[in-house]
Amino acid sequence: MTALKARGVRRTFEADLAPVRALRGVDLGVAKGEFVALMGPSGCGKSTLLNIFAGLDQADEGDVIVDDLRVDGQDENWLAKFRRHHVGIVFQFFNLLEGVSTLDNIVLPAILGGLRRKAAETRARDLLDLLGLGDRTDQVPAVLSGGQRQRLAIARALVNEPAVLLADEPTGALDSEGGVEILELFRRLHGDGQTILMVTHSADVAAGASRIVQMRDGRIVDGDGTAPSATADAQSRPG
Ligand SMILES: Nc1ncnc2c1ncn2[C@@H]1O[C@H](COP(=O)(O)OP(=O)(O)OP(=O)(O)O)[C@@H](O)[C@H]1O
Ligand SMILES: [Mg+2]
Repeated sequence: MTALKARGVRRTFEADLAPVRALRGVDLGVAKGEFVALMGPSGCGKSTLLNIFAGLDQADEGDVIVDDLRVDGQDENWLAKFRRHHVGIVFQFFNLLEGVSTLDNIVLPAILGGLRRKAAETRARDLLDLLGLGDRTDQVPAVLSGGQRQRLAIARALVNEPAVLLADEPTGALDSEGGVEILELFRRLHGDGQTILMVTHSADVAAGASRIVQMRDGRIVDGDGTAPSATADAQSRPG
């Protein structure tokens, strides 16, 4: 079964001097349960590809399938629902809600995802316990260490049980100890069946994944760029 599939994906950004062809025909498949590390030089298109899988940006051309759903060609309303239910997104710089407690950083997206407050709080506490933040529920994110902040961001990404966890340099802002901690967490989640696509510049971090895929100049250049077709049974509705 395919969790992620890109076929012939192209994305060009308009820029002052000349258009930037960020993705030039990407073919990539990630099977359910895989933990894939995406590597490649700065500017080769890793974040662009991740954002397209996340429904944060859209391909100009090509097929994008996530969790058996057709993501390309959808409107913003559809994409907002898709992001809430089918993918969990983790960034280098956490993107936490700084004004509310650690607990509410998870409860609020859970409520948006359809849980009632009580159920959302229960789920948030369970996740915080699992990620070693159970004693931090009432604190604001600002008092947490970098590694703790990233674990909170991961808890938030997982709260609506996404089919795929998408992480863009999740260890990039952490010291090596914090990085190891996040990698171990990802390996544990992968062991429990979570599908993960993680962008990283670190060969050490990538070595923890089950497969490494290399990108260069807007294309996949190494690793198994294909997976069984998920196009046939792709549906057009999220949830
Ligand atoms: N919104 C945008 N507008 C214009 N150009 C963009 C935009 N987003 C990305 N680009 C360009 O597209 C190319 C690919 O960028 P992308 O961020 O995907 O690279 P990356 O592989 O993630 O790099 P890094 O490792 O530095 O994060 C770059 O040349 C970048 O400048
Ligand atoms: Mg990037």
